[in-house]
Amino acid sequence: MNKDKNFRLQYHIMPPVGWLNDPNGLSKYRGKYHAFFQYSPDNPNGGRKLWGHYISDDYVHFEYVGESLEPDKPYDKNGVYSGSALIEDDKMFLYYTGNVKQEGDHDFTYSGREANTVLVTTPDGMSGFEKQLIMTNDDYPDFYTCHVRDPKVWKKDNNYYMVQGGRLNGKKLNPESVDKGAVLTFESMDMKKWNCISNISTVKPFGYMWECPDYMEISGLKVLGLCPQGLETKGLKYQNIYQAGYFVLGDDFDIKRRCRPDSEEDFIIIDNPDEVFYEWDYGFDFYAPQTFTDDDGNIIIVGWAGIPDADYDNEPTVLEGWQHALTFPRVISRSKDERKLLCNPLPTILEFRGDSNEEKIENYGQVSLIVSECSDTEIKDISGDIYINFSSSDEELFEINITKNNNEIHLSLKMDEKAGRGRDKRSVTLKHGDNLRILLDVSMVEIFADDGEAVMTSRFYFDKEKSEGTFDMTVKGNCNLKTYILNI
Ligand code: FRU
Repeated sequence: MNKDKNFRLQYHIMPPVGWLNDPNGLSKYRGKYHAFFQYSPDNPNGGRKLWGHYISDDYVHFEYVGESLEPDKPYDKNGVYSGSALIEDDKMFLYYTGNVKQEGDHDFTYSGREANTVLVTTPDGMSGFEKQLIMTNDDYPDFYTCHVRDPKVWKKDNNYYMVQGGRLNGKKLNPESVDKGAVLTFESMDMKKWNCISNISTVKPFGYMWECPDYMEISGLKVLGLCPQGLETKGLKYQNIYQAGYFVLGDDFDIKRRCRPDSEEDFIIIDNPDEVFYEWDYGFDFYAPQTFTDDDGNIIIVGWAGIPDADYDNEPTVLEGWQHALTFPRVISRSKDERKLLCNPLPTILEFRGDSNEEKIENYGQVSLIVSECSDTEIKDISGDIYINFSSSDEELFEINITKNNNEIHLSLKMDEKAGRGRDKRSVTLKHGDNLRILLDVSMVEIFADDGEAVMTSRFYFDKEKSEGTFDMTVKGNCNLKTYILNI
């Protein structure tokens, strides 16, 4: 085992060196998956933002193809921020936010920041990226602060649509001067000239800023993805500093609806946001996800397996010169009760399953997983409480519990203090607890429960000096368990 790079992952996208955050420009183009990402190669703690670029045939093996979009224009000089891809007539188009911080004494929220929308064309998706400035803050309604960003673009019925995330300026909008998160919707006929057609928000603030919006229709269910900042924890909900989730919109919701975009009286309002907002992931490390559609029409979501401004860290990888990763891609489908979404790992992972332990393990079974390889564990037919404990060379790492209490089933992820680096416990209420799947990859765990209705992602760190490169998994409880080593 390479002691210098113990925490590098096997089948997740990581920065070659330095810092990674949001996935950008996700697409399937000319037979290959493309994953661009927010990249700061100079420093594992972040800095100058550009787009790094990976391609892949299977989303398990990746080729790094370079730093595709650098902040080299006056309209993106302080960062090539997040954005998306549109594939049209065998061509790739990219849209992103050019971040500019002006000279002078500014707070960069109400003054001094430019959020420029930029279109990029390329002959082959790999090189020759040509930028074109297509919108500036003057093209957004003036009741927004300087924070408007993260264009997500798609085509419907011969027109093009875009959502961007924004922070409404409370000082201009209401007597209490409270800022509110919102989404701006744009329409275009030619991909270059865009008009704002509506603003989507809530009556009371559902956070002060919505980042990285997304829109999708999944088997008829209309869904607005967003990352609200500023929500307070409510019981088991909203436990992270910032959230990543989606609003399930009513059947009569029409993303193409035209409102008076410059009128604060004519917003599309999400009523009772708490009741229709669901988190994509209930773990410690998930933010800024983006969806894309593959050649088979599957809608796939990939998130940043990290989160900004958290009070836990990834110091062990920072010491190795890198930080953060993307989640494994998840296929989205509609739940049986039709009102929510399910997320399950892209099935390509199953092709890499090697030897499996097929025994029914009851009470304290033990399996060793090799750290330099990866494992995918599936548990079915749960009855009674289950405790799955992961350790490495007698050092506790984390425990996954499924417990039944007063007719409620809970999935919990409890991190050991040292392994969690400030991460403690996350829990979510399950419907039945069946079909648990755990993807383990060296220093990342992704847990899928209730057929994918509840997902948790977390990083964890073992002691490099003590570890012999094995995981020990101890199962207490009655479940039918299979463990696979992945041959990658
Ligand atoms: C979300 C985000 C985006 C922004 C990008 C900058 O994590 O803040 O809103 O475009 O990161 O790196």
